[in-house]
Amino acid sequence: MSPVAERVLAVLRDSVSPINAAAVFRRAISVSRLDEDTLEPSELPRLLPALETSLSVFVAPASAKAIVDRLRDGPRSQPRAGTTLPLETDEDLGRARMLARSMAAEESASSYVAQKIATVVSELGRNVLRYAQRGTIEMRVLETPRVVRIVVIDGGPGIPNLPEILAGRHRSKTGMGRGLLGTERLAQRFEIETGASGTRVLAEVAL
Ligand SMILES: Nc1ncnc2c1ncn2[C@@H]1O[C@H](COP(=O)(O)OP(=O)(O)OP(=O)(O)O)[C@@H](O)[C@H]1O
Ligand SMILES: [Mg+2]
Repeated sequence: MSPVAERVLAVLRDSVSPINAAAVFRRAISVSRLDEDTLEPSELPRLLPALETSLSVFVAPASAKAIVDRLRDGPRSQPRAGTTLPLETDEDLGRARMLARSMAAEESASSYVAQKIATVVSELGRNVLRYAQRGTIEMRVLETPRVVRIVVIDGGPGIPNLPEILAGRHRSKTGMGRGLLGTERLAQRFEIETGASGTRVLAEVAL
């Protein structure tokens, strides 16, 4: 199999099972009369329409299109730039949630994964507004492992009782007291740095 063919298959496997990825790929190759052993980048424009059609059997048409667009964009030698948004008002938090949703859709994330990402953004963003008044939120997609990385930074008072909170021994005055713990559970990597000059939370959710 040629390197381009390998990459097409790898992208398909991100979205459907390996067996279905192979089926989709073979069908598209045969319909477009190409050869997986000699497939070249210049032949992708011939393959992609067939790929989108056969993918639509397994995923929603919008997802099929997003997956094929990823292939059309070419391999990502550079990680894509993240987007940083200010967090100061409820509207800012709404925008951050919308960005999270659209990022998840662009990555053809399942609705379950999209919900996880939106929840993490909501919980961390809400904490900034409530306890630190203002901060920033950055979201970016990383490829290996494929995750959405969310970094929330504020210059607030810090979280003095963090160990207690992470051990589940904290009772919140204002909320359920489950925002950080819930986020930790949804994330495959979770880090908090906090001190008198502010808090930085990093959470990575698998795509
Ligand atoms: N960015 C922050 N700056 C300062 N303190 C924070 C920050 N985020 C959280 N905290 C503190 O950590 C506690 C636990 O936060 P967590 O989000 O887990 O629960 P909560 O916000 O109290 O309730 P919930 O999120 O369930 O509504 C908060 O009550 C608050 O005291
Ligand atoms: Mg909270």
